[in-house]
Amino acid sequence: MKLKLLIAVALVLAAGFATSCRQNRAAALPDPLARAYDTEADWNDAAHVIPLNYQQAQGKRVFYQYCVWCHADSTPAGPSNRSNLNPNPPLGNDGATLNSLSDDFMRNVITMGGAAAGKSAAMPPWGKTLSQDDIDAVIAFYRAIAQPAYQPPARPGPKYSVR
Ligand code: HEC
Repeated sequence: MKLKLLIAVALVLAAGFATSCRQNRAAALPDPLARAYDTEADWNDAAHVIPLNYQQAQGKRVFYQYCVWCHADSTPAGPSNRSNLNPNPPLGNDGATLNSLSDDFMRNVITMGGAAAGKSAAMPPWGKTLSQDDIDAVIAFYRAIAQPAYQPPARPGPKYSVR
């Protein structure tokens, strides 16, 4: 009895696999979003496309979900909130402002918010929303798109440096 049931289940599963494989092959259209996070066009020069590694690509996801609304001038949903804020938050690719900040300072200001780092309180704290990996990823994305390009320091600063 049990054996018959087992055989029946196996047959149903095998039939399911066979048909689902055939359907998948027929419907294998290229997904336009599949590679959307592999690169980022330079914000100042759309012809310059910046390749992103895995961590930077994760950072791009975080950026376009949480940060783009204040750290870019346009967003996937239209204009951003940046011009309404005083001081204006730096653009995500503003290397002239962000390149001089250590990774530790960036981590602190993102985790604890602007007020905790002596910056505008309009910069929210993200430590309860984002994981440490997300925060490191978004920093990696900022570094990747920075104009002028970011050069990592020859000697990383102390852990809790303020600038
Ligand atoms: C509601 C608007 C808003 C959002 C959303 C926002 N920020 Fe900010 N951010 C600010 C403001 C305002 C400042 C402070 C500007 C100042 O004081 O000069 C700031 C400052 C910063 C700084 C420090 C820059 C400096 O000059 O020291 C970093 C880094 C930063 N934000 C990263 C992020 C990241 C990463 C996200 C997304 C997870 C994010 N921000 C989302 C408004 C925002």
